[in-house]
Amino acid sequence: MLGSAGSIGRQTVDVLARNPGLFRVVALATGSQGDILEEQARLLKPSVVSLAQGRSTRLDLPAATEFIGGSDALEALATRPDVDLVVVATGGLVALRSVLAALEAGKIVATANKETLVAGGHLVMPLVRRLAAGAVGATGDPHHPLASPLGWLRPIDSEHSAIWQCLVGEDHAAIDRLLLTASGGPFLSATVADLATVTPEQALRHPTWTMGAKITVDSATLANKGLEIIEARWLYDVPLPAISVVIHPQSVVHSAVQFVDGSVKAQLGTPDMRLPIQYALTYPERMASAAAPVDLIAAGRLEFSAPDEARFPALRIAREAGQAGPRASTALISADEVAVARFLGGSLDFNGIPRLLGAAVERFGTGKPVEPSLEQLVSLDAEVRQFAETYR
Ligand SMILES: NC(=O)c1ccc[n+]([C@@H]2O[C@H](COP(=O)([O-])OP(=O)(O)OC[C@H]3O[C@@H](n4cnc5c(N)ncnc54)[C@H](OP(=O)(O)O)[C@@H]3O)[C@@H](O)[C@H]2O)c1
Repeated sequence: MLGSAGSIGRQTVDVLARNPGLFRVVALATGSQGDILEEQARLLKPSVVSLAQGRSTRLDLPAATEFIGGSDALEALATRPDVDLVVVATGGLVALRSVLAALEAGKIVATANKETLVAGGHLVMPLVRRLAAGAVGATGDPHHPLASPLGWLRPIDSEHSAIWQCLVGEDHAAIDRLLLTASGGPFLSATVADLATVTPEQALRHPTWTMGAKITVDSATLANKGLEIIEARWLYDVPLPAISVVIHPQSVVHSAVQFVDGSVKAQLGTPDMRLPIQYALTYPERMASAAAPVDLIAAGRLEFSAPDEARFPALRIAREAGQAGPRASTALISADEVAVARFLGGSLDFNGIPRLLGAAVERFGTGKPVEPSLEQLVSLDAEVRQFAETYR
């Protein structure tokens, strides 16, 4: 598991710890939170752990747990021969190189991280399709769970997990439209003037989900939904114009698929990430989970409306970046990481976030190549970040 001490990482540990007979945890890696890593190592007894920054040499680990460091640690862990499945719970592009290496090595990747696909979908998906085609060849069964690209690249993001669950047993040609639901965040009914004075504390108060700070602010600007549109385009091989966003403040319907016959299939659940995490780990099976079931009568009323792109322009900017290609969507995510950090640090106002995203996509999105290699992506990311740090 990459990013074990974060919000998704800790919830994944909870799922794993509740099912001790089902999974063996080989490796845990996190960024800087050594205390949490120590605690997780005591609980799950992995063979190896890694900490990117901080007090690596003084970690108090179980006797059988080895420590590895170095800049290629994530890649080394994700490609170990005793690893079957890699959970990606890091933010940004930290894990892109290791995701590519893991897929090259024939590992299943379960990812909460959307940035990897938003920037590197053109690098990731051919590997995933190759693995799925290999499984058809090896099993002779086109309905084998690993015969589908989604058997190899399993989404944890709740909306994408919902769509995946709706698609099980369906023919790709029967998809008419993907309907991504969005809570609308804490400022659903705020005016543009209200948005100008939003504080970090207000933006971090999500109405329905408890998540890491970056994604919570992205939910408030709707940039998160914009990234999810691009993520969905890669995962489900559906063109961007066939992906709609529907505001649904109760966060009970996690997303839906409309089919060519007009039917709509949706997945409903309580807002608890342990459910999509567990589904990605146990697919194609379902098991009892710690998430409370949806009580439709208690939920009472489920509302749906169209998003307002005039008040939340990040959604439009992301859609345009997705349409322009991976170079533009890399500019989008790299700028967004800096923009959110600057907003939280007080050097950018809330409406400055979409302004900065628009400026970065315009400046960096139109160059060549439209589909950068991994190394080109890494240097583009650095260039965009530098621009975003000093943007006024
Ligand atoms: N949170 C949610 O409910 C949710 C829902 C859907 C999708 N997602 C997506 O899932 C991803 C993670 O989100 P999150 O909210 O869990 O973020 P988070 O709480 O910020 O966690 C990110 C994790 O990555 C770790 N990390 C940073 N640099 C690393 C490195 N070089 N090597 C190994 N680990 C490193 C961090 O380590 P330290 O903490 O130790 O520094 C942290 O544990 C994001 O892409 C997000 O969009 C999250």
